[in-house]
Amino acid sequence: MSSALAEPALASSAPTAAALEFRGVAQAFAARSGTARGTHDGATQVLRDIHLELAPGEILALLGPSGSGKSTLLRIAAGLDSPSAGELLVGGAPSTGISPLCAVGFQEPRLLPWLSVHDNVALGLPKGTDKREGRAAVVRLLALVGLEHCADYRPAEISGGMAQRASLARALARRPGVLLLDEPFGALDALTRLKMQDLLLRVHEAEPTTVLLVTHDVDEALALADRIVVLGSEPSIPGATIQHVLEVPGDRPRDRADVELATLRGTLLATLGVDPHRR
Ligand SMILES: Nc1ncnc2c1ncn2[C@@H]1O[C@H](COP(=O)(O)OP(=O)(O)O)[C@@H](O)[C@H]1O
Ligand SMILES: [Mg+2]
Repeated sequence: MSSALAEPALASSAPTAAALEFRGVAQAFAARSGTARGTHDGATQVLRDIHLELAPGEILALLGPSGSGKSTLLRIAAGLDSPSAGELLVGGAPSTGISPLCAVGFQEPRLLPWLSVHDNVALGLPKGTDKREGRAAVVRLLALVGLEHCADYRPAEISGGMAQRASLARALARRPGVLLLDEPFGALDALTRLKMQDLLLRVHEAEPTTVLLVTHDVDEALALADRIVVLGSEPSIPGATIQHVLEVPGDRPRDRADVELATLRGTLLATLGVDPHRR
């Protein structure tokens, strides 16, 4: 982990949203076997030529077929993997390794089963946070995600949706300038998923961060994002890149039945190779 992680921060002050930029980012992995698609010189090209800039406070949804490299791009943004080419900038500065400005949330809440909900959220606090301030921050975040009554529960005693809310609070405890979410609601039932989407919007208002949201759900992207980026590849060129960038009209919260959004939904589904009239 980067030594910059040890920087203490005031847990109670609001985070400042940071810009995130991919400059010519590519990713290739050493091939596990010579039969993989896109295999070239013993490496599999997963991403190529990604140029993308997220403005501070923007919510950007990343869509793409399964295996198109969405998680790979998010891991690069998180500093969990280094790109094979190109550069990542966080808050306007080149970033390698895990940036103290970024926090990540995954599809599984990844809570520690032996710790209470409170203590799991406290794990996200920046190192060196004053104890009293840390406690106050956790209490505030638990209230923000509606878990104030579950502080002492263990992860096994709460529902999947509640665990995902605790996971979100833990990510926010880091006071991230950039929140990176990889299909965060993908494992939840449809109703809980909608509630979590509303919660994410409330959280985004209360804690201004930039959000990169990986999702395979077109409706989720349309409900939440300022812009939607679609990753995809062409048959003859190894590696996925940005195929479409779409600005989503209308202030949030949006009317899910809006006609303009329905048209965009059709466009996005067609881009993803799904016939919108057959769903
Ligand atoms: N560490 C790795 N080593 C080798 N191949 C990988 C690794 N991580 C991902 N891949 C490959 O990269 C491709 C994209 O994966 P991923 O980013 O998980 O796609 P998505 O999230 O869009 O479904 C897949 O073919 C996957 O097998
Ligand atoms: Mg993925």
